[in-house]
Amino acid sequence: MCGIVGLVNGHAVATDLVTALGRLEYRGYDSAGIAVAGPGFAVRKVAGRANGLKDGLDASFGGQAGIAHTRWATHGRAEMRNAHPHVYEGVAVVHNGIIENHAELRAGLAADGHEFASDTDSEVIPHLIAAARARGAAPMEAVRETCGALHGAYAIAVLFEDAPDHLVVARQGSPVMVARGEGAAAVASDPTALAGFCDEYTALEDGDIAELGREGVVIRNGAGSLANRDWQAVTAAEEAGAMAGFTTYTRAEISAQAAALVRTDDALAARVLTPQIAAAERLVVVACGSSLYAASTARAWIEELSGVPCDLEIASEYRTRNAPLSRGTVALLVSQSGETADTLAVQTMFRAKDVPVVAVVNVAHSQMARDAELVWPTRAGREMGVAATKSFTCQLLALVRFGLALGMARGAVTAETLARIETEIASLPAICTAAELLEPQLKSIAQRIAYENEALFIGRGPAAAIAAEGALKLKELSYIHAEAYAAGELKHGPIALIRENSPVVVCGGDHAEKTLANAEEVRSRGAAVISLVGAADAERFGPISAEMVVLPGVGLGLIFAQAVAVQLISVHAAEALGCDVDRPRNLAKSVTVE
Ligand code: G6P
Repeated sequence: MCGIVGLVNGHAVATDLVTALGRLEYRGYDSAGIAVAGPGFAVRKVAGRANGLKDGLDASFGGQAGIAHTRWATHGRAEMRNAHPHVYEGVAVVHNGIIENHAELRAGLAADGHEFASDTDSEVIPHLIAAARARGAAPMEAVRETCGALHGAYAIAVLFEDAPDHLVVARQGSPVMVARGEGAAAVASDPTALAGFCDEYTALEDGDIAELGREGVVIRNGAGSLANRDWQAVTAAEEAGAMAGFTTYTRAEISAQAAALVRTDDALAARVLTPQIAAAERLVVVACGSSLYAASTARAWIEELSGVPCDLEIASEYRTRNAPLSRGTVALLVSQSGETADTLAVQTMFRAKDVPVVAVVNVAHSQMARDAELVWPTRAGREMGVAATKSFTCQLLALVRFGLALGMARGAVTAETLARIETEIASLPAICTAAELLEPQLKSIAQRIAYENEALFIGRGPAAAIAAEGALKLKELSYIHAEAYAAGELKHGPIALIRENSPVVVCGGDHAEKTLANAEEVRSRGAAVISLVGAADAERFGPISAEMVVLPGVGLGLIFAQAVAVQLISVHAAEALGCDVDRPRNLAKSVTVE
């Protein structure tokens, strides 16, 4: 999280920096700041979004090199005093990552008389660099020396008051790109931020330190040797989809799901499994957030279609345990952004153990995509809303297609199953559109949940995972406390939460008769059962439901319809409570810290 950008180009860079920073806002929007070089530094910080920086870029911001930052708070509250850039004695720094030994470094610096202006971990960096400079180190050496003292993850860009036409950039753990163009050089967390400012970019590797000036970019690796890297064209980020008459991007993106599914299926048609992947004896699927719930939803489908056992793992947990890997393991990483820190850390672990990695990823230029043996793409398009919507259903589709491809390669799919799945897949876009038409009913359910200010979501099999995604979406967007449980687990504790009128969203589907029994159990304790079921179950669920939404689709299709339904409930609950649907508090779209 956090986005950093820097630019040197022989012109006043401040306005371009703010433009580039705005393109990185999905990485965090707690505060924003800019520092432009000399004479002295011109610095401006604002609480909240990057575009707030625009007003107030007066004549003092005429410098031709500068750095900027959009923050997702890790250490120190989301307040102005903790906004980057952090400046100390002629050194300005923007940082993405976490410095794990900051307390120890801060104590050492304080003992030497350094005084700190923020509560951040990042602020030790300019202090350490300035201290190295004071001992006589040149800018690059001062940064190298400082990096040697830092533990944790960082992408930093450094501006020096006494070298006002250069930037120094270093990376360990956090993604960062350096770019060059005619008389220009730049740095950014995401290369698409630099469209229009530079022509080509390359990703720094761990341990790299680069010097950027109008004459170009010099990269040295961790050993201090000059590094030759492949450069790629800088391209603009895919345009955000139109709002199409909706008031939020998130709502528009829910509506864009049908088209996104068609694009994804087209892209997947061209993909084939490598022989090693096709021979998988066990799959380990690793992800975070909604991507984890997409994997959880699809796990049973993958196992059923391919006959290959499929373990599901939370990336942040899996990376901390030394799980034994059986022979023939293939890893499946699922990520919208392709840069979630924990999932990337797992990718590095797999690489070290020679486990082939399939990346189910939406951002084609992401590190996860670059480093994978096979990219199994989603084509959701750019998601402007922080909460996953169309990327989630595209992941579901990609995972079904993966299970099918694996099963086909192993001869495990009968002609009959193939025909059934293909028919079901072909119907998905229309099912999403039809589910959306139930919005008025879903809106009234959202209002009931908003009024009660809590919700429990239950389901079985894939629908249990949709229940989990529903509870997550509701929390993310409306800040209403929501829990999800596999319906059969309810009586082992969470049923104690039920009181008169507790909203319990029941996702029907496989084993509906058992889920129905669980719905009865909560109803007899006073809960208001809200059923999201297919037409086949309407008769059974109707009598016990306070509200029932009869969704289109059966099997796969019903799961996609339920996904749309829980998205719409969450959006409307958020709107009922006056929440910022596209930019929920405390969240970021791209989670680049552990
Ligand atoms: C953040 C986003 C979620 C997303 C999760 C995993 O929490 O707000 O929408 O599901 O990260 O991100 P990834 O990019 O790996 O799918």
